[in-house]
Parts: sequence; structure tokens; C-alpha cells
Amino acid sequence: MPRTIFAGTGYYVPDRVVTNRDLTQLMDTSDEWIVERTGIQERRWVDPGMTSAEMARRASLMALEEAGLEASAVDAIVLATLTPDVFFPGTGVFLQRALGLEGVPALDIRAQCSGFVYGLSVADAWIRCGQFRTILLVGVEIQSTGLDVSTQGRDLAVLFGDGAGAAVLTAGEDAGRGVLSTHIHADGRFAESLWAEASSSKKNPRISADDIAAGRHYPRMEGKEVFKHAVTRMPEAIHEALAANDLTTSDIDLLVPHQANLRISQMVQKRLGLEDRQVVNNIERYGNTTAATIPIALAEAIREGRLKRGDLLALVAFGSGFTWGSALVRW
Ligand code: UT7
Repeated sequence: MPRTIFAGTGYYVPDRVVTNRDLTQLMDTSDEWIVERTGIQERRWVDPGMTSAEMARRASLMALEEAGLEASAVDAIVLATLTPDVFFPGTGVFLQRALGLEGVPALDIRAQCSGFVYGLSVADAWIRCGQFRTILLVGVEIQSTGLDVSTQGRDLAVLFGDGAGAAVLTAGEDAGRGVLSTHIHADGRFAESLWAEASSSKKNPRISADDIAAGRHYPRMEGKEVFKHAVTRMPEAIHEALAANDLTTSDIDLLVPHQANLRISQMVQKRLGLEDRQVVNNIERYGNTTAATIPIALAEAIREGRLKRGDLLALVAFGSGFTWGSALVRW
């Protein structure tokens, strides 16, 4: 049975840097509060006109270049986002069109911060069962256009950033390499703990002046509840993956956690007994880019030489839904 290999990774972040100090011009917040509670120093926000599909295209081209492949080698696209360019169709088809891949299937994944891990789970199953041999897996997000940047929305507005990350996954025959497992979960009892209520197909029209006046089109989060579940579910998902592969935490060489809050990542690190050098953090520069965080962090870690052949890589995510999951990869 073929194994899923990361043949190339890439990322794109907008040029516009928004510092914590910039945010103090918009809302009642401070650099000290944001750094102390989240670890974030700055994030990237798009300029008008940029689309999720275009950011995805740029990240994808970098990943294809690293893989040494032309876009025409791609058999399928899996794209994770919670901020599609339009309500429908999914962003995957816009990326497919931009890459000139007529006829190639494009699947959008709606699993929020866990989207990349969910997408990896699907892509890995397709590769292992032989349905596709080369899959472009992308996580992309434009959060900045949907945030309440007044003091009322400050708990979320300071957290989120924009960006895209991509991986080219190929079928490999070397049994000693590749994705070892993926484990994904959800608990819809907490769907409203982090959500955006409008626009909604439950209502006609789907968004009203009332919704906008009440701010229902902005994301809302019960921060403490999300935090509490994140620091429990992420270590749990890693332990589940390790147990399934007869491995232990001491076998992990590098952990790429979803970048939601530096304090969350530090607690996960502590619970797993990992050293600083074994955990990738880039939240201080990008904030939380939702489905894009893991592929951006992974692409950066590779470029910094933090992974070598044979290393055990662990990916772990938690987010709105709630959804969560992990993956183990023998590099
Ligand atoms: O991607 C996955 C989903 N997201 C997450 O995993 C995020 C999980 N949650 C968190 O990261 C944290 O809960 C936050 C960073 C969102 C908030 O940190 P906290 O330590 O839980 O703060 P809090 O919500 O308890 O708020 C403490 C105080 C409040 O003021 P009072 O009521 O004590 O007067 C807030 O109004 O901090 C206030 N506050 C802020 N102050 C300055 C909330 N946001 C801000 C802000 N600047 N941006």
C-alpha cells in the first residue's frame, strides 16, 4: 500500500504587518495585554482585493516548486478554510481554475482550525487506497475582513491573522517514510462556543440589517472554555496517535501545534514533556491563521532545517466545532 509523502510545502502571507500597537489605534487594548495573554506581537492582514484563492495559489506554487512538480501533476485538491471567498462554490474550485487544472476534483473542508489535519486525513486515505497519487492540500484564511475591530470584539480581533499554507502530497513506496496515522474528532455540543452566526441559510434574507447591527456576522468566542478544551484535547490526540503506532512522547522529534495562543502551545508542550527546540511556534509573527497555521509553520520549520529524514513529526490541532485531531509523519 502506498504511503503519503510530503513532497513539498509552501506558504504565503500578506505584506501588510499589523502590530499590536496598530491595534491600539482601533480598540482599547495594549501591546502588554496581547503579548502576555497570547504571545502575539504582530499579524498579517490582507490589503483590499486579495482573495483566499489567490493566497492559496501563491502558497501552492511554492509547494509545487519545492516538490519539483508542475501544477499539471496534481490529481486532486483538498482545501481547508472557514473564510471562503464566496458562500458557494468552495474556494477549492477557484484555486483549481487559477492553476489551470480543469477536471481535477477540488474538495473544500469545513473543520476550522483543524482543517489542515482533517484534510490530511482525507488526502492520506485517498493516496493509500490508490485513488489519487498527487494531492495539493491547502489551508488558507482571510480573517481580517470579518473581525469586529472595535473594543467590543477585541478578544478575537487581536488573535487572528491572514495567510495560506500548502503541501504537495505524493504516493511513496518506501514503507519507512510518510504519514503513519491521522486521528480526527469533533464535538458539536460546543458548536456555539466559537462561531459566526450570520449569514445563515436558516433565515431569509440570510443576513439582515438587524444581524449587522447586533454584530452577528462577527465571530464570537467563549475564550476560557475554548482554551480549557484545547489544552486537554491536543495532548490527548497526540497520545492517541502515539499509542496507535507503538510510540511514546520521547520518540517525537518535532511538534507543529495549531497556533491559537502561545500559552496553549506551551501547556501542550509541558504536558508532553517536550523541549522548546522540539516545538514550532510562529504565532508571535502571524497570530492565529486558522486552517493555514499548521502548513505555514511546517513550511517555515522545513526552511529553517528543523526536520531531517527519519524524524518523527507530530501535527496537532484544535478549534471551532469543536474539532481536533493529530497526525504522525515519519519524515
Ligand atoms: O484557534 C482555536 C480557537 N481559539 C483559541 O484557542 C483561543 C482560546 N482562548 C484564549 O486564547 C484566551 O481565552 C483569550 C486570549 C481569548 C483571552 O484570554 P483570557 O486570559 O482568557 O482573558 P479573559 O477573556 O478572561 O479576559 C480577561 C480580561 C477581561 O476584562 P475583565 O472582565 O477582567 O475586566 C477582558 O475584557 O481581559 C479583557 N480583554 C482584553 N483586554 C485588552 C479581552 N480581550 C482583550 C484585549 N485587550 N484584546
